[in-house]
Amino acid sequence: MSEAFRGTPRRITVVGEEILARRCREVTEFGTPELDQLIDDMFATNHVAEGAAIAANQVGVDLQLFVWDMTDDRGTHHRGHICNPVLDDLPPDQRTLLEEPEGCLSVPGPYRTVARPDRAIVRGQDKNGTPIVVEGRGYFARCLQHETDHLHGRLYLDRLTSRERKSALREMAASQDEVFARRAARSSSLASSS
Ligand code: NI
Repeated sequence: MSEAFRGTPRRITVVGEEILARRCREVTEFGTPELDQLIDDMFATNHVAEGAAIAANQVGVDLQLFVWDMTDDRGTHHRGHICNPVLDDLPPDQRTLLEEPEGCLSVPGPYRTVARPDRAIVRGQDKNGTPIVVEGRGYFARCLQHETDHLHGRLYLDRLTSRERKSALREMAASQDEVFARRAARSSSLASSS
């Protein structure tokens, strides 16, 4: 059985909640059952919400941690987690800016175009405290940057003009009930299949 089904989906925090708007605490205790459980629950939550990746503060936990479970634009599947991620500051000759639509599980509904480097290298630790380096390109690079932003209290909305931000929030207000209903339905089908 896949790791996604070991955990229990948790409630996803929504833009406006304070925990999404500040820097998270560093993970300092590794190899604990609590951290294992949190990671399993984050995979389950991401799966139920049909997300690509999710940060700990999106399930209400104040820790620098995110997980990903997604297929990139070349059809390659990526799955993993990282604690205390720090993005390399890549020189402009090693990356190009890509403008692509981006959404967020904590902004249910809308997608808006965000410019981000097409390549990202993130350094941190795994759940046992072992140093890891994760490199992504294209859509996966976008995810690594989007999730690292979350842990600094930043949403993709904060990268939009105020006009675009307002339109995204209006769209969210109109579509969020439908998104929540879909998640609830997937959550109960997950519960009944395990
Ligand atoms: Ni997000």
